[in-house]
Amino acid sequence: MNLSIEPSGAICGANLRGIDLSAPLSSEATAAIRAAWLKHRVVAFPDQVMDDDALERFTVAMGGFGEDPFFDPIPGRRHIAAILREATEQTPLFAENWHSDWSFLDTPPAGTCLLSIEIPPVGGDTLFADQIAAFAALPEERKDFLRGLKAIHSARGAYAPDGAYGTKDQGRTMAIRPSEAALATQTHPLVQIHPETGEEGLFSCAGYIVGIEGMADTDAIALLVDLLAWQGREEFTYRHQWQTGMLVLWDNRSVLHKATGGYEGHRRELHRTTIAAWQG
Ligand code: SIN
Repeated sequence: MNLSIEPSGAICGANLRGIDLSAPLSSEATAAIRAAWLKHRVVAFPDQVMDDDALERFTVAMGGFGEDPFFDPIPGRRHIAAILREATEQTPLFAENWHSDWSFLDTPPAGTCLLSIEIPPVGGDTLFADQIAAFAALPEERKDFLRGLKAIHSARGAYAPDGAYGTKDQGRTMAIRPSEAALATQTHPLVQIHPETGEEGLFSCAGYIVGIEGMADTDAIALLVDLLAWQGREEFTYRHQWQTGMLVLWDNRSVLHKATGGYEGHRRELHRTTIAAWQG
């Protein structure tokens, strides 16, 4: 194995080279990739020749498949969804707000894999915000206050029938399947200890967090909006630029992410899997 790790120079993110993901990974390579992922939070593998079998194999090696509600998988696969936007599409951009994938589930996915299939010549970067760093930079008094809060998560704003991707969202080519199941709520501590690294960080954000347990809605929303501005501050972010033949793996327990536009008139397609919660 000849793995080289090039940190992005930003708060998180690294390129990993010298490993061929079209072939099964050795246990040594798997361990080295997982270690780099936990340290850099977002790792990109440029210049890969991967098909969907290779994407599935990589996902299994990193921890197995997570649950993916509200998406239909691509034909012939149970666990791969297409993040897709046609060149002529006019719908609002998918996932343009900070989020941690499926944080409203009982056991949210540890990570997400995104494999580029077709990348526009301009725009379409993905932004990441390091929530371990964002929490660490808060004043101690604020940290103590936040440590005591339980956040109420829900997919309703996005995937309920009247949500952003619900019945009024016409003309989208991505296979999003809104449903009443999005109205469910799930509580998670607002500040979490990363199960694998022991680091403390903010988990998820306004968008999928719809309230704070025991707090009036107006106060909770004000707190979440204020916190969101902090969570996405430039010093905590890394801007990822895509190339074709690139796999990116990120850690949903330590970063938020969001899509960006700027590629009007061009097609963009990536294949996505999620990695199951870590079992220890
Ligand atoms: C996602 O949130 O899964 C998609 C990110 C992107 O399209 O850049």
